[in-house]
Amino acid sequence: MKLLVIGSGGREHALAWCLAKTPGLQKVFVAPGNAGTAAERGLENVAITDLDALADFAEEEKVSLTIVGPEAPLAAGIVNLFRARGLKIFGPSKEAAQLESSKDFAKRFMSRHGIPTARFASFSERASAHAYVDQQGAPIVIKADGLAAGKGVVVAMTVDEAHAALDRMLPAEGQHAPQGSRQAQVVIEEFLEGEEASFIVMVDGKEVLPLASSQDHKRIGDGDSGPNTGGMGAYSPALVVTPEVHAKAMREIILPTVRGMAAEGMPYTGFLYAGLMIGKDGSVKTVEFNCRLGDPEAQPILMRLKSDLFTLLDHAVAGKLDQVEASWDRRVALGVVLAAANYPATPRTGDVISGLPKASEDSHDSHVFHGATSERDGQTVTAGGRVLCVTALGDNVKQTQKRAYNLIIGIHFDGMQYRHDIGHRAMPR
Ligand code: AMP
Ligand code: GLY
Repeated sequence: MKLLVIGSGGREHALAWCLAKTPGLQKVFVAPGNAGTAAERGLENVAITDLDALADFAEEEKVSLTIVGPEAPLAAGIVNLFRARGLKIFGPSKEAAQLESSKDFAKRFMSRHGIPTARFASFSERASAHAYVDQQGAPIVIKADGLAAGKGVVVAMTVDEAHAALDRMLPAEGQHAPQGSRQAQVVIEEFLEGEEASFIVMVDGKEVLPLASSQDHKRIGDGDSGPNTGGMGAYSPALVVTPEVHAKAMREIILPTVRGMAAEGMPYTGFLYAGLMIGKDGSVKTVEFNCRLGDPEAQPILMRLKSDLFTLLDHAVAGKLDQVEASWDRRVALGVVLAAANYPATPRTGDVISGLPKASEDSHDSHVFHGATSERDGQTVTAGGRVLCVTALGDNVKQTQKRAYNLIIGIHFDGMQYRHDIGHRAMPR
């Protein structure tokens, strides 16, 4: 049996690493993969990114199942394409992926179905957007519509910041979007207070299998300071996702979403990620939907998965998720992202990485997942923003944090930056 994982980040490295344990497996192809997936036993990189060429490859190699990591190919319709060609693939259709690819679609969908989320209004015209901000006041949140890799969101603490964000995201009066491109749109949202958590489930169109909870660290700096990033580290399980919060998230967010998508003729299949805001009053609101696993959440989550991932995916694709259960390592997993110089603005690439553990040094309770690396003249070099995610398992958050940070000590590349406090919200105070 051969499998194909699409993507090149840490999430895809973790997916492929996890799938490599499948009994009876011949190979996991990773397209295009990175230097980490190239070195891993059981994995093989293939240098293809074009969607038609990926379908050709899956057909020629008789790939049993394809799993899509990132949102871009999903939003471009890779699942529709594979299905039309009779190829098995796990992910949402292009239509269903709008839950992530269009903030406007997601917000309107949530209001239609009574799913708790921040109050909002959508604008494509500057003057009315400015007027709305003046009327609402700050803090307030401005989001560009469309995929923005975590960078299209401004949490404005002052009205001035909000106005400046609008000027950046919307064209001036009389100015039009370049021909062929979509009209720019922003969603302006009520600011939600509380603690965030990542709630990720598998969906087969109808049935839902929740994965272990996790918490990301979106800001670049210690103590949650500085600009938003794609995520600087994560751990699982998230303390804040109590059994009550879990039940509420399922009942008020996940199940109505899955039912609503089916009722609207866009049955949702794939990983579904709800970013939760958990209020002090116990309320649970949806900050956003993603139509995929989180990165870096996938790294600690998959490290804790004791069930066979392929069996879960295979049941999901067959519409039989109700027949399987996932079991989780009781320990805590925690991953620290090592980011490139200048991340998140314009990450520098090409820096040589030293001190990476050798494949033979692999241990059961830690793994260095590659997020953005490539091979150059026999050396591993940085190839993007979030370069590595050093992930470890331990009996509690404190011990796991120590273990992960100890593993980082030997690893170096110029300009390397990382947070020193991953897991801080789960630490005894
Ligand atoms: P998003 O891309 O929608 O997940 O937004 C990125 C980050 O911005 C979230 O993880 C939150 O930290 C923050 N954020 C987004 N929307 C809100 C909101 N309505 N209230 C407070 N913070 C928000
Ligand atoms: N870590 C946040 C995300 O994957 O969107």
